[in-house]
Amino acid sequence: MPIKGEIEFPGDKSISHRLLMLASLAEGNSLIYNISSGEDVISTRHCLESCGILITDKKDHLIVQGGSLRSPKKPLDCGNSGTTVRLLIGLLVGQGIEAEFYGDQSLSGRPMNRVLQPLRKMGAVIKSNNGKLPIKINKSKIKGVHYKSLIPSAQLKSATLLAGLGSKKNIRYIEPFKSRDHTENLLKFLGAEIHVKDLDINLKSRTSSSLRNFNITVPGDPSTASFFATIAAIIPGSRITLKKILYNETRTGFFKLLKKIGVGIEWVSKWKESGEILGDLKVFYKNLNPITIHQELIPGLIDEIPLVAILATQAKGQSKVMGAEELRIKECDRIMAICYNLKKMGAKVLEKDDGFFIHGPSKLKSANIKTFKDHRIAMAFSIAGIVSKSKVVLDHPSCVSISYPEFYDTLNKVMT
Ligand code: S3P
Repeated sequence: MPIKGEIEFPGDKSISHRLLMLASLAEGNSLIYNISSGEDVISTRHCLESCGILITDKKDHLIVQGGSLRSPKKPLDCGNSGTTVRLLIGLLVGQGIEAEFYGDQSLSGRPMNRVLQPLRKMGAVIKSNNGKLPIKINKSKIKGVHYKSLIPSAQLKSATLLAGLGSKKNIRYIEPFKSRDHTENLLKFLGAEIHVKDLDINLKSRTSSSLRNFNITVPGDPSTASFFATIAAIIPGSRITLKKILYNETRTGFFKLLKKIGVGIEWVSKWKESGEILGDLKVFYKNLNPITIHQELIPGLIDEIPLVAILATQAKGQSKVMGAEELRIKECDRIMAICYNLKKMGAKVLEKDDGFFIHGPSKLKSANIKTFKDHRIAMAFSIAGIVSKSKVVLDHPSCVSISYPEFYDTLNKVMT
């Protein structure tokens, strides 16, 4: 059955994490509307509360009382959230805080050295468990740095910049490919002196106290919206409007890809709000041609690759995803999880070290899906079930709450 109608989404997860962190540095009260309802963002909130920040729930917003970060009495539980731990290590070490970080089983297996390297170069004193959690940061005095990264990661870039807020010297960070730039945008919006020229970022020496407090509504999460765009792209006759979605060049890679492969994509309006652009996006069924993605496109749709795989099973011909090795170290090894589950559903998939090739179209069949407790795998394979009209049973359906607890409710609404 085609899907129709309009959907509004909770705030972007990446921006929500950053707003909580920056609000805790800014003097005075900051108001955050439409914050992400995901458990990852709640992890960030709890960590900041453990560091002495008072956060109050109001009917439709949060109030964060900033300016009073102190060392937590207990280790900080980052749950499943890579963004929480990596960004907070940077933010807190920059503020001379002493803290210990731990996480769930998935997070405990993920590499942290990528963040520790630039921070140690900046003078941070950090102990880790062979580059993994648990990690302890000691009271450190942060210097300036000139860091050229080989890894296209917004978490790594953001950790370095956030640490730099506590330095009296300039920070220069160069990334290999453009990754999401919300930290830079927000810092600029909140009064930091930061200059961005393509891949080259310069944060001028200023103290964190110069960040101003704010009142911001978080734009709708484009990564969450992409699940519904995928249904509309595959089911003939579908037409939906995704309202108040973040339109940021570093995040719209999936929508650009949909347009390129023939799907109906139309931004019906765009406007600027708090340093970011928002828009209403119409997605409608039209064509579905095969997909080719190379390394430089990956950061712009890194979280949407499971959906790219589902689309590829329905497009006629060979699709190729290459240069996506970062996917192996997400909440689970997503290349493995995608290929494992698609094979179970009868798709023609070839797993590669850095991605996969898929030959479509395939009539996907019913299967028991192993989510590896990864929210994006769970949501992508729910969509696979819907578009192929095959019954899928997820082993851990509730893991969608990591980013989008309302996923099944929204799905029910647009399907009826
Ligand atoms: C994020 C950056 C990306 C992304 C993650 C959120 C962020 O991770 O996959 O979901 O908010 O900075 P990497 O920086 O590891 O690519």
